[in-house]
Amino acid sequence: MDAIVLLKDDHKTVEGLFKKFEQAGEKAYAEKRRIVDKFTKELVTHAHIEEEKDWFPQVRAAMGRKELQELGERMEAARAEAPAEPLAVKSAAQ
Ligand SMILES: [Fe+2]
Repeated sequence: MDAIVLLKDDHKTVEGLFKKFEQAGEKAYAEKRRIVDKFTKELVTHAHIEEEKDWFPQVRAAMGRKELQELGERMEAARAEAPAEPLAVKSAAQ
């Protein structure tokens, strides 16, 4: 499994859960609780994979400081363009 594909699949999973939450009835409290619990578990697992499993140090070693700084600047600029609506994220449309 390609690491980027794996991380993007996680994003799709979270976006799918967000869709389910939005589509759940207003009073579907138990269903919404279950979705939020799964959502939280998915996000914690995703952060763990990225931060504790040597993913970031490996990327840092492979890319080097200058390239990472340039990428960081592009990400910071993209942050300002991010939609407020979760389902407007590109991977949510796939
Ligand atoms: Fe991510």
